[in-house]
Amino acid sequence: MGRIQLIYHSETGFTERYARWIANELNCDCVRFDKSITVDVSKADDVLIIGSPVHGGELARKRDIERIVSHAGQAQVMCFATGVAEAEEGIANSLLKASFTDPTRISLTYLPGGFDSEKLEQRTKTLLFLLRLMLKHRRNLSEKQKLLLRRTEVSGDYTDKELIGSFVSEVMRQVKS
Ligand SMILES: Cc1cc2nc3c(=O)[nH]c(=O)nc-3n(C[C@H](O)[C@H](O)[C@H](O)COP(=O)(O)O)c2cc1C
Repeated sequence: MGRIQLIYHSETGFTERYARWIANELNCDCVRFDKSITVDVSKADDVLIIGSPVHGGELARKRDIERIVSHAGQAQVMCFATGVAEAEEGIANSLLKASFTDPTRISLTYLPGGFDSEKLEQRTKTLLFLLRLMLKHRRNLSEKQKLLLRRTEVSGDYTDKELIGSFVSEVMRQVKS
């Protein structure tokens, strides 16, 4: 198989779980990225896979991700995002548009993650508090916004290994083409 590299950001472990499942299937490198380290994406000759949680309707660490993508050369960039929302039609496209100034050449798949407030960093806890406060003060919340409020109140795990199947097949198709 061609050269594939997977990098991910994960604060409470749900994106990390998918990252490991996907890397296992593809037998590729799987590296966690952080603000403090420069990520070497030179192993991604064919496909660079990037995983990150959804924070406030966009990929967490989107600036770092855009910087990494700018070093990806000719590799196809395939992102996956995890959140507490349902995997409904249109979600991947809206995340793609909200997260990248130039989404051409980048694809995005949404996978249901989970919520674990105990593992959140203080900074993210504050961000979530503000997001929830804003939503609670809004009138006429959409069903999606109501679900976000409910699912960021109590811990929950919505991950499912079966859901990686089509993402993995798409990566393999990209490598062969
Ligand atoms: C500050 C904050 C904002 C969030 N915003 C969203 C959101 O807009 N949509 C969504 O589906 N999930 C949202 N979530 C839930 C996370 O995306 C979800 O818990 C994710 O699977 C966590 O991944 P991780 O364990 O890899 O950090 C938010 C969580 C936090 C802490």
